[in-house]
Amino acid sequence: MTLAEVEALHERSLDEVAAVADVAALEAVRVRYLGRSGLLPALVRQMKDVPAAERPEYGKRTHAWRAALEGALAERQAALGPVLREEAGFDCSLPGRWFAPGAKHPVSRVIEETAAIFARLGFSVADGPDIENRFNNFTALNTPAHHPSMDASDTFWLTDELLLRTQTSPVQIRMMTQYLPPVRIITPGRTYRRDTTDATHSANFHQIEGLYVDTRPVSLADLKSTLAYYAQEMMGAKAGVRFRPHFFPFTEPSVEVDFSCHVCGGKGCRVCKMSGWIEIAGAGIVDPRVYEHVNLARGDRAYDPEKVYGYAFGFGVERIAMIKYGIPDIRWLYENDMRFLSQMA
Ligand code: PHE
Repeated sequence: MTLAEVEALHERSLDEVAAVADVAALEAVRVRYLGRSGLLPALVRQMKDVPAAERPEYGKRTHAWRAALEGALAERQAALGPVLREEAGFDCSLPGRWFAPGAKHPVSRVIEETAAIFARLGFSVADGPDIENRFNNFTALNTPAHHPSMDASDTFWLTDELLLRTQTSPVQIRMMTQYLPPVRIITPGRTYRRDTTDATHSANFHQIEGLYVDTRPVSLADLKSTLAYYAQEMMGAKAGVRFRPHFFPFTEPSVEVDFSCHVCGGKGCRVCKMSGWIEIAGAGIVDPRVYEHVNLARGDRAYDPEKVYGYAFGFGVERIAMIKYGIPDIRWLYENDMRFLSQMA
């Protein structure tokens, strides 16, 4: 190649740099002239064939071309915006990687919202272990020894005395054994039953227990106003509650608690099977016999049934989540299907 040809290429490369419209085109120009198999390195390789007399001038021109081209490339790149920084292995002109934003699971949401609502009423959150003993899960809760809920067909027994708790109610016993009245707690947690899984049952679900025991009279009316407040905060201002008589071994009287149907507002629809109400919780006034078991475990009479009063309630977290978010099948809550979970974002 003659010196004139080098000069011509020099000019042409600068014109090409000036003409590109984007970073990609600029990069193409850079590769064509400066890349490993580009024109400039090829020229340098040919240097040995240049007559010795011409070599210094040839070298000077080539060097000047390289410097001018690199300068022009850098300038043009700055003008075009984002820079391809090869040395850092980082192309900041590429679009960023997209990460799906995470979202709280419906079960966690209900637990957190419930805790916040009851915190406004002075309840704190208490915790207990998933593995319980017979005393806390059954005996202290006044469950007779022959009660069917204790059968191996209903309860996961680990040993003769240890089991996976079938309800969060044993945390009532733990808290009263540990603390003096007044006790005002809610207890969210996992519970286990030998249920066959279907659209509304799971062998491993969550409950939230509530307990309020005080040395001043605590009545069913207190219980009802508390749960009515919860219903309104959770399901909307129009939500109502009703009590139906029921039986639990550890409360007397006992009630089942219904919320007014969130879909029809109580008029009757398919969701509430035309009744206007949806069954939500079990509740009642703490049975004096529970206090006696607690006193026995404590070794004192801090929970003298003549002097303390209290109510308890318990409900399923999944059930609230299904109602609140319109989830028709409990299994959807456990399958970790992104099509389901991403709807909570
Ligand atoms: N533990 C009861 C259940 O699992 C619910 C309940 C809690 C009832 C507290 C009354 C008081 O069905």
